[in-house]
Amino acid sequence: TEYITVGELASLMDVNPTEVISTCFSLGVMVTMNQRLEADTLQLVADEFGYDIEFSDADLEEAAEEETPDKEEDLSPRAPIVTVMGHVDHGKTSLLDYVRKANVIAGESGGITQHIGAYNVQLENGQKITFLDTPGHEAFTAMRARGAQVTDIAIIVIAADDDVMPQTKEAIAHAQAAGVPMIIALNKVDKPNANPDNIRQQLSSMNILVEEWGGNVQSQEISAKFGTNVDLLLEKVLLQAELLELKANPDKKAQGVVIEASLDKGRGYVSTVLIQSGTLEVGDYVLAGKNHGKVKAMLDERGKPMELAGPSIPVTILGLDGAPTAGDKFRVFEDEREAKSIANKREQLQREQSIRTKKHLTLDEIGRRI
Ligand code: GTP
Ligand code: MG
Repeated sequence: TEYITVGELASLMDVNPTEVISTCFSLGVMVTMNQRLEADTLQLVADEFGYDIEFSDADLEEAAEEETPDKEEDLSPRAPIVTVMGHVDHGKTSLLDYVRKANVIAGESGGITQHIGAYNVQLENGQKITFLDTPGHEAFTAMRARGAQVTDIAIIVIAADDDVMPQTKEAIAHAQAAGVPMIIALNKVDKPNANPDNIRQQLSSMNILVEEWGGNVQSQEISAKFGTNVDLLLEKVLLQAELLELKANPDKKAQGVVIEASLDKGRGYVSTVLIQSGTLEVGDYVLAGKNHGKVKAMLDERGKPMELAGPSIPVTILGLDGAPTAGDKFRVFEDEREAKSIANKREQLQREQSIRTKKHLTLDEIGRRI
């Protein structure tokens, strides 16, 4: 079966048709503007642009069924999802560590795992924030490139005893490109040589004016090392979150994004996912990228079993048949067979893609030898 044309696909994705054509070429498919594309090619090309195509074929039809928009009255407030970014050594990990430790209920702290991709903290006033503990902005960019925008707010950490560094600028550019509001954390103010005004000055020369200087970007002086004013920083996060009026429908089958996944010797494939809407339950059948499986167990960031997880909550799930890629979308399926068939289809497409890539390489090498 052939579907839409190159031109139609381009306009659906809002890109220039020549980009679609050159992507087809790079996948080894020679096309023209008005040519109709086969399902496999469509999916491959769309993938390159970070889109997922839902076909209305008999076996894929049900997959599209669920995309009914939520009604306003079904929406409930959800916690903000926050990413911390900044230059090397400016204090991202120290900040995340402080927030986590300060908000872990006494007695449970022994159970903190060393590495976790995401966690939810509850503040003293009962409000919650979900932090994505990404190793810098690579993960942020990788997720965005895959079409998964998960972050609501970015904290940009800048050491006040240093300058606005290249990676700081990059982080700011990423947040701006994604349309994610920033909060500047001027860190290390405990140091005698800290000079937060110097940072404010450098930011203003990049057209980023913090509130203290009459602008509209929130900022907070902190010491991540000693925890000074971290509570004030979090208040600003919550203030920003309030403005965003973040909501989701908790009363439906869960969907969200894969944060990370790996193979654990004892437990099999372990995937950390962030729920974006709906509620995930043990026993649900999940499709995540090209992997699928029944959720055998759900764990929170301390490894404690959970039965249910709603919007903005990160959970580690056991039971998938493989490790999906960070940024893959996941969703719950009523029907196991359906999830399997889509997973297999994706697997097959990926195999074909890698064969094509290999072919391409071989030809290229022959060409060069000649
Ligand atoms: P990368 O993950 O390597 O990019 O670094 P990072 O941004 O996570 O920085 P990290 O939290 O590891 O901190 C780097 C160094 O700065 C460590 O030695 C911290 O102890 C120190 N540091 C972080 N925050 C503060 C602070 O508020 N005051 C002081 N004096 N030192 C700090
Ligand atoms: Mg770090």
